[in-house]
Parts: sequence; C-alpha cells; structure tokens
Amino acid sequence: MKVLGINTSPRNNSNVRFALETALETSAEKGAETEIIDVNPLTISPCQADNYCKANNSECGLNDDMADIYKKIEEADGIILASPIYFFDVTAQAKTLIDRLYCYFGNEEFAKLFSTKKVSIITTNGGAPLEAFESSLNTQMQAFGALGFQAGDIIALGGNMLPGEIQEKEDQLEKAKEVGKNII
Ligand SMILES: Cc1cc2nc3c(=O)[nH]c(=O)nc-3n(C[C@H](O)[C@H](O)[C@H](O)COP(=O)(O)O)c2cc1C
Repeated sequence: MKVLGINTSPRNNSNVRFALETALETSAEKGAETEIIDVNPLTISPCQADNYCKANNSECGLNDDMADIYKKIEEADGIILASPIYFFDVTAQAKTLIDRLYCYFGNEEFAKLFSTKKVSIITTNGGAPLEAFESSLNTQMQAFGALGFQAGDIIALGGNMLPGEIQEKEDQLEKAKEVGKNII
C-alpha cells in the first residue's frame, strides 16, 4: 500500500507540507509506504494540448520532471495533494501538475486503474473563510474524478499566514491525521 503526497508550496517551513507530513505519518502507522514529492523545484511545463498523448496511449509528448510523477501516480494506492490557497484557489504549481494529467483523460484503461485510488486535498490559507474558495477545491477534485479517481477528503486549515505557524495548532493537525487515516 503506497500513499503519495504531492507538496505544491514553494516555501521553506511550509504549513501545508507540515500538515501533509502529519497526514502521511498516520498513513504509515496504518502500514502504508509513504513518499512526498516537492513540486516547486521540479521542471514541469504547462500542458501544450498537442494531443500527442491521445495518439500515444497517454504518454505525454513533453519530456520533463512529470515523467517520474506519472510513474509514482500510477503506482500509488492513494494520493494527497497539498496546496496553499493562492487567490482563492490552489497554487499554479498544483494547477500545472493537474493539467498535465490530461494525458490520462479519456483512456479507459487508466480510468480503471485509477478507480481503486483515492485522492484527498489538504490546503492551508490565511484569513479567508472556507466558503471563499471551497468551490475551487471542489473543481480541482472534479478534475481527478474525471480521470477516474475516487474523491477523498478535502480539508482547509486557515489562519496560517506565517511560515510554520500550523505546527502549534493541534486541532488542525488532528484534521490532517484524519486525512492520512482515511486515504487507505
Ligand atoms: C500569492 C499568494 C496568494 C494568497 N492568497 C490567499 C487567499 O486568497 N486567501 C487566504 O486566506 N490566504 C492567501 N494566501 C496566504 C497563504 O494561503 C497561506 O500563507 C498559506 O498557509 C501558505 O502555505 P505554506 O506555508 O504551505 O506555503 C496567499 C499567499 C500568497 C503568497
């Protein structure tokens, strides 16, 4: 059982990465093998919509660091996407990665493979109430659903403007643990 964490925060001492680590610790306690990919330092180009993938069994025509991520997504049993909220939505890093999953869209074999895998989303943010960006998170989850994945949890952990301040918030870390527990 493998759980893949995808961290899309660019900053050091990231709140959402800490929440993701906390979630994955719980998955590991339940026996899962866990891994975190930090997306920001990687080279991931935006989808070019050239439809190369449609003629090549979902292989993307771009040759960059997504190659490794595709492999890990295909091998994982559960995926937790972690993103700070940037202007009422996930980060550009997260959105770029999601768009690159277009190569799988419409491929029934991959839809079948993904139908056994759950995706959850963890976000951290500053002062905005959840209602301000809840629809965006549902939209991102819909993208995974369109590829065949099962929808898992979506949690938003607010009041985390400064780097690392989530580390003292036991109630929020408990919510992250629930995500790690539910993903498997
Ligand atoms: C470009 C940018 C846009 C942001 N937009 C929002 C926002 O719309 N709503 C909000 O509550 N916080 C917003 N924030 C604050 C971050 O969501 C918050 O600091 C988050 O916890 C950062 O996560 P990290 O520490 O994992 O990077 C924004 C921060 C940045 C840098």
